[in-house]
Amino acid sequence: MTTGQRKITIAIDGYSSCGKSTLAQALAKRLQYLHIDSGAMYRAVTLYFIQNKVDIYNEEDVALALEKISIHLGFNDDVQVTWLNGVNVDLMIREPEINQFVSHVSTLSSVRKELVARQRKLGANKGLVMDGRDIGTVVFPEAELKLFLTADIEVRVERRWLELTNKGIETTREEVRDNLLRRDHIDSTRVDSPLRKANDATVIDTSYLTQKEQLQISFDLARSVISTPGLDY
Ligand code: DC
Repeated sequence: MTTGQRKITIAIDGYSSCGKSTLAQALAKRLQYLHIDSGAMYRAVTLYFIQNKVDIYNEEDVALALEKISIHLGFNDDVQVTWLNGVNVDLMIREPEINQFVSHVSTLSSVRKELVARQRKLGANKGLVMDGRDIGTVVFPEAELKLFLTADIEVRVERRWLELTNKGIETTREEVRDNLLRRDHIDSTRVDSPLRKANDATVIDTSYLTQKEQLQISFDLARSVISTPGLDY
């Protein structure tokens, strides 16, 4: 992208392990935009709750704990680095224990309210690709480009299993499948901001697309939106 072109907001939503963050990061790099992985923020809050034994079923405890949480997103070579109260928590927030609790923590309205407000601030200047579950529907309903990623469950299981195995985390495909299906269910049936496709989102089924193909499709869509005259600057 050349400088001087108008900047847009790009929202990427979808189920777990469909490749949202990988695509969002590559697309942001190509457009010279900022990439924010909003899931990392929910993961950081979950980590704080676990470390500090916060009763996640007690609204008052949750509200008090939220006041003590400072999340800072830094960037190392354009890759997001997540800091929780001054500590780099990038590795810790990917642990299986977080996967177990994060979907429940994400159902809590007080948590969502707080994180959505922070996400909107981060996107105030546009020139942003943000991925998550409610970015096109709640965080940036006015985003100029919305993508909704899906993929066959067995493809997602294989991807996540390989990712965990490569990191040295021992798990079976059955465990991975159970966790993914459980998280999909909680994410799409929660009362506050459930995961759903925005009416104006473009669906990309990533099952049989390479990362390069996904990037090309998304980049072409972004380029066409960016060069469409008549939209707000
Ligand atoms: O994208 P991820 O797997 O890192 O997200 C972790 C969890 O956070 C996911 O199970 C649902 C929740 N989440 C959410 O509710 N809203 C978002 N915008 C991003 C993530």
